[in-house]
Amino acid sequence: MRVLTGIQPSGALHLGNYFGTIKQMKDLQDSSDLFIFIANYHALTSLKDAKALKENTLDCAINFLALGIDPNKTTFYVQSDIKEVLELYWILSGYTPMGLLERAHGYKDKVAKGIAANHSLFSYPVLMAADILLYDAGIVPVGKDQIQHVEMTRDIAIKFNNDFGDILTVPEFKVDENMATVPGLDGAKMSKSYGNTIDIFCDEKILKKTVGKVITDSTPMEDAKDFSTCNVFALAKLFLDPAGLLELQKRYESGGEGYGHFKLYLKELIWDYFKEAREKREYYLNNTQEVYDILENGANKAKIIAKNKMEIIRDAVGIYR
Ligand code: ADP
Ligand code: TRP
Repeated sequence: MRVLTGIQPSGALHLGNYFGTIKQMKDLQDSSDLFIFIANYHALTSLKDAKALKENTLDCAINFLALGIDPNKTTFYVQSDIKEVLELYWILSGYTPMGLLERAHGYKDKVAKGIAANHSLFSYPVLMAADILLYDAGIVPVGKDQIQHVEMTRDIAIKFNNDFGDILTVPEFKVDENMATVPGLDGAKMSKSYGNTIDIFCDEKILKKTVGKVITDSTPMEDAKDFSTCNVFALAKLFLDPAGLLELQKRYESGGEGYGHFKLYLKELIWDYFKEAREKREYYLNNTQEVYDILENGANKAKIIAKNKMEIIRDAVGIYR
């Protein structure tokens, strides 16, 4: 069963991105035929700075490779390297009722925020459907905010198949219900838009400073502390095995240490955990040609599937040659 997901190239990655998404992808690449692509055409709907978009695309590839996406196991490519997706997008537009797009939360939320609506923002879900249907993906792992888009993909595929027979694979979305929301510095969901993130690839000084900003209560140093409500503990938990967790709980309960100590400990946990990723990232930053080669390889693999699929689809709808 093919599993496919897209990621928007949107700058620095934080702990929420890693534990919410990337770690799952690493597990999936061992057990499935995984396709991951960088959705740079989708990013174009909101980012109008050419230099930044190019840089973000390369940076995103480097970050995912550094964090353990293995191009020998995963078909890893950039969306725009496979132009067939745009052709399919157009064909699928004919199977996408206006009402379906008008109901999209993603679009409605952006308009409600005052973002000027343009056609690409409106038709974003059709391109997403093309991303999925072009490769016969059976399962699409997404965050909760993207479920509706996969449901729209299903609707579009079913409508198309009604006319032409079973040509498109109707996908299922997969949301990891066990995945806890990673809290930010203030305890709310960690998110770039809340300014409460801990970035994975910042330097050590910045990391120490950022972790220093995690909000804690004012229990005095000598007193026992409640680990169950502590933001520092909630973050440390992401990095600890059961024994390590128990040990940290005991340190909280026995008092005598202040939040400063626990923050220092958290900073060390984060710093050590991403040591290998930092080294790999450094390597790829100094060897960008290797990254471009990896992406080209991925695109070549994806292209074979895309070309075959488009031949079937073109023939079905009556496109000459
Ligand atoms: P942000 O909210 O910082 O803009 P994105 O929307 O770019 O993050 O998130 C990209 C992916 O990372 C999504 O799949 C999302 O589910 C996941 N993610 C982001 N923040 C968190 C979090 N705090 N906890 C768990 N997963 C998260
Ligand atoms: N819209 C998705 C997001 O913002 C990214 C994306 C684009 C995607 N195409 C996709 C995800 C296809 C899954 C499948 O997160």
